[in-house]
Parts: sequence; C-alpha cells; structure tokens
Amino acid sequence: MKHFINLKDIPSKDLRKILIDAKLRKKKRKNFNNLEIDKDNPLNGKLLIQMFEKQSSRTRLSFYLAIKQLGGGTITIRANELHLGKGGESLADTAKILSTYGDGFMLRTDSDKKIDEFAKFLSIPIVNGLSPSSHPTQVLSDIFTVEEIKRKPISKLNIAWIGDSNNVLNSLIASSIKFSFRLNIGCPKFYEPKKFVMDWIKKKKNKINIFNDARKAVSNADVIFSDKVISLNDKGNKAKKIKDFKNFKINKKLIGFAKKDVTFLHCLPRGNEVTEEVFVSKNSKVWQQALNRIHVQKSILLYCFGKLR
Ligand code: CP
Ligand code: NVA
Repeated sequence: MKHFINLKDIPSKDLRKILIDAKLRKKKRKNFNNLEIDKDNPLNGKLLIQMFEKQSSRTRLSFYLAIKQLGGGTITIRANELHLGKGGESLADTAKILSTYGDGFMLRTDSDKKIDEFAKFLSIPIVNGLSPSSHPTQVLSDIFTVEEIKRKPISKLNIAWIGDSNNVLNSLIASSIKFSFRLNIGCPKFYEPKKFVMDWIKKKKNKINIFNDARKAVSNADVIFSDKVISLNDKGNKAKKIKDFKNFKINKKLIGFAKKDVTFLHCLPRGNEVTEEVFVSKNSKVWQQALNRIHVQKSILLYCFGKLR
C-alpha cells in the first residue's frame, strides 16, 4: 500500500509507471461506456471512501468513474456529516473506522496537517484530492495530457505557468523536478512561491525561472498553464489580489509570445484570468485535460493499492 500525498515525495520512476499504465488503459477503453469495467477488473470489490471539506466537481466525478472502471465502488461523504467534523470523534478513531470499512481514502481538505495525520493513523492508502499546498492528482494527469497532445516527453518542452503561486503551481514545480522539464513562472511581484517551494526551486536553478512579466514567462512556450487567481483557501483581500494580477490575464496578445501551436491548459474552475477567446480557441485543450483525470487517477489508485503492473 502506498499513499499519494505530494508529488515531491514519490519517486520519478513510480510517477512514470503511473503515466505508462494510464496510457495503456486509456487505449484499451476506446469504445467502452463510462461505467463499463476494465477487462482485468483489478480493484474488484474494493471501496474508495471520498471525503470533501471543500467544493469539487471534477475530482469527485473523475474518482467516482476511476474506481468504478477498475471494478470497485465509492462512497462520498461530506466532512460536516461525520462525528469528526462536528468535533465528537478523534481523527485517530475516524481513521480506524475508515480503515475498517474502506480500502482507500481520498481527501480534499483545508489542512495539509490533516492529511499527514490521517496518513499516520490509516491502514489503507490516502490520496490527496487537493490541499492548500498541493493538487498532485491534477498535475500528474496534466503531465499525461501534455505528453498526449505534444507526442513527446515533457522534458523536451517549455512549460509556462501564468498565475498565482498556489497548490497547483506547487505540484507543477514538484513535477518539473521529477520529470525534468523547463518551467517559466509568470506572476506579479510579491506573489512568488513560498519559501519552502523556493527551496526546491533553488536546487533546480537552470530549469525553473520566475518572471514578473507575463510576456517573458510565456516566451517560446509549448504549453501555458493557468488557474484561478483566487483559490478555495484564499482568505486575504480578494479585490486587491485580482487587481494585482491585471497584467497577467491570458489573452490572444499574450499567447502570441508563445509558440504558434502553444497548448493552453487550465485545471478549472476558471475565473477572469483567461479570456473567453483563448479559452475556446483551438489552442485550448481544457476538456481533454479534465477527461484525462479519470484515466490517470485509475493508475494512481492501482499504484496506491499495490496493483500497478
Ligand atoms: N480541477 C479540479 O480539481 O476541479 P474540482 O475542484 O471541480 O474538483
Ligand atoms: N487553486 C485552486 C484549484 C482548484 C481546482 C484552488 O485551490 O481552489
């Protein structure tokens, strides 16, 4: 059994194995209906318990389909329906119960500490379905999408990020280290990644660069990533933050500084950080990106359950 909490703590070779498995499985399902089970039925009878402390559309649905297609099932619980959420039961006892009834646990939470605590007390794998500091299932799936679209290893591509230094960017930075790709980050001054992330970046001096000018960040990019300026866990002055990002809007003029066939990706949901014109353009592959989460999360689950080929 293995947890899937932060990309930076998972060996590169395991991450690559997950991507290879996802590619094979996706290919084999070409004409399958959503709920049809993969021929090998690898997680037959297994239960994934999903818990959300914050909103989710894609993560919830893609994990539902992922475990179903592997032959298992899922139940989704809301934190405020549990004794834990109301403060009437300890995390350790809750973890024991989850491990008694379930085979895997997917958690979207406001607290990184809570994931670590669960990992300590669970005897089943835990998957981080988004925390304040990372969104690993999203980003591993995005690496898959990039390689699927560009038909080459991501290490041969120039990747740009325009936006806030948030959980998704942290996971993208971790994957730049794991998969060894060039990453240009474009964000306003004072919105650069936090110190613990800057410490990882320092180790990778030549491959990760930060620009306070969006045009420089996207220059010669093969792929531009973005995300909402305001994240679920943002508590500061939102109006000010949005104003501070006004020169970082992804519009047609900005993507003109990237390669002609640049791919635009966005984990969704979106805000005003990208124009409708770019979002619906032929460069935008956001729906393919969302769909691939099912395929990659299946292989993540197999990795966690010790069933990855
Ligand atoms: N991208 C993503 O994680 O979407 P949800 O918040 O809808 O799950
Ligand atoms: N950074 C965003 C990602 C949403 C999928 C958030 O945390 O809200």
